[in-house]
Amino acid sequence: MSHTWSAKDHKNTSQPATGGQAQKRPRNDVGNKATVVLGAQWGDEGKGKVVDLLATEADVVCRCQGGNNAGHTVVVDGKEYDFHLLPSGIINTKSISLIGNGVVIHLPGLFEEGDKNDKKGLKGWDKRLIVSDRAHIVFDFHQVVDGLQETERQAQDGKNIGTTKKGIGPAYSSKASRTGLRVCDLLGDFKDFSTRFKNLVHQYQSMYPALTVDVEDQLKKLKEYAERLRPMVRDGVYYMYEALHGAPKKILVEGANAALLDIDFGTYPFVTSSNCTVGGVCTGLGIPPLNIGDVYGVAKAYTTRVGIGAFPTEQLNAVGELLQTRGHEVGVTTGRKRRCGWLDLVIVRYAHMINGFTAIALTKLDILDVLDEIKVGVAYKLNGKRIPHFPANMDVLHKVEVEYETFPGWKTDTSAARKWNDLPAKAQNYIRFIENHIGVPIKWVGVGKSRECMIQMF
Ligand code: GDP
Ligand code: IMO
Ligand code: MG
Repeated sequence: MSHTWSAKDHKNTSQPATGGQAQKRPRNDVGNKATVVLGAQWGDEGKGKVVDLLATEADVVCRCQGGNNAGHTVVVDGKEYDFHLLPSGIINTKSISLIGNGVVIHLPGLFEEGDKNDKKGLKGWDKRLIVSDRAHIVFDFHQVVDGLQETERQAQDGKNIGTTKKGIGPAYSSKASRTGLRVCDLLGDFKDFSTRFKNLVHQYQSMYPALTVDVEDQLKKLKEYAERLRPMVRDGVYYMYEALHGAPKKILVEGANAALLDIDFGTYPFVTSSNCTVGGVCTGLGIPPLNIGDVYGVAKAYTTRVGIGAFPTEQLNAVGELLQTRGHEVGVTTGRKRRCGWLDLVIVRYAHMINGFTAIALTKLDILDVLDEIKVGVAYKLNGKRIPHFPANMDVLHKVEVEYETFPGWKTDTSAARKWNDLPAKAQNYIRFIENHIGVPIKWVGVGKSRECMIQMF
């Protein structure tokens, strides 16, 4: 029998055995499929807004990686929300939000965020939130260590990474070195947890003698957080299994950070410490690859980056300043100005190579409305020759020369456009070019902050 690969072929493998005798084989129903939203650049592409759009129909909205280094903005009815650890779908009172095992959780951060949103009117968020018992905990000292490591990098290399100082790198380091502590540990035997916590503190203090930790005070606080967290905690893998294999359910996964910040595929070492590409969805939630459905990539109509690292299409000039001010390009988590430049299709294509996007959401087209001409990076050259791949080595990436296509600006306000035909022809050309160059259809075009400012193309 020849081998087949499509998901359909896995659906019902109940078949007679060869050799004449009929034999029942177990059915292998694939179950429901998760829709995934991922950043295709260096973050802040507008993932929160795209998730919010899809979450109005979703039953479960999940975070699979990262922590409160993420900052996702959602604007509904003129009210602006920023989410860091909570999935943006928490706004939808009819859906459940799940924080998966791949996420690292700073408990004071989580409850602060919840309480802040509660005051804004987002009631009952804690009743709609489920937290995986396998998720690792970010402790306060991880955040202090994040700062100490940045100072050390600055002193040793003359440059740091520009992290969010949310303790993400140190917490994932503890996880990888198998000394980390998880939600299930916190909710288990507290005496055992306390011993392991003390050992972990000791380990970090031997690396960073300047680190002071009031262990007893930390344990007292953690015990209180444990009780607040307990009602939300489930076995995340089994919860997801039931969601995938029970009644038809719409499951949405909200990526945090982005492809170029991915620990494996990003501009290493100027990256975050998790897999922000599609593999992180499987490992961060326990979703089998066959249950991954549409994978939507979110890209801005230009490029931004927060923190340090190569940025080939960066514009350190009036164009960059205009994008920064018109686009209000300020980090949601740290308040830092974002660096700005032209759309770089080399990186979006690279993100597509890794994620296999089914469609793209192109956001912030309206920010380009006033420009006389608009450039798009289409290829990188090294020593005058085009290179087909995205360079792994940062020294090489710093040296590439970008080849641009130049488009005439449309010089028209697009913020009121609600359908394709409302867009000026020159904006339509720009969008079509991007779509053809990446080889992925653009499903949405963003022309403003709020929910209704999203043109759906098909
Ligand atoms: P995320 O981290 O990917 O969720 O994105 P952020 O929330 O950090 O940054 C995106 C910013 O752009 C937010 O302030 C959004 O409100 C805003 N935004 C998203 N889409 C659009 C759009 O199409 N037009 C405009 N003008 N702003 C947008
Ligand atoms: P969202 O989900 C933009 C960047 C930081 C820094 C590097 C490492 O809002 O798109 P970390 O604190 O993760 O160790 O910092 O990664 N970074 C982001 N930049 N948007 C994000 O998330 C980011 N998350 C991390 O600025 O350069
Ligand atoms: Mg953001």
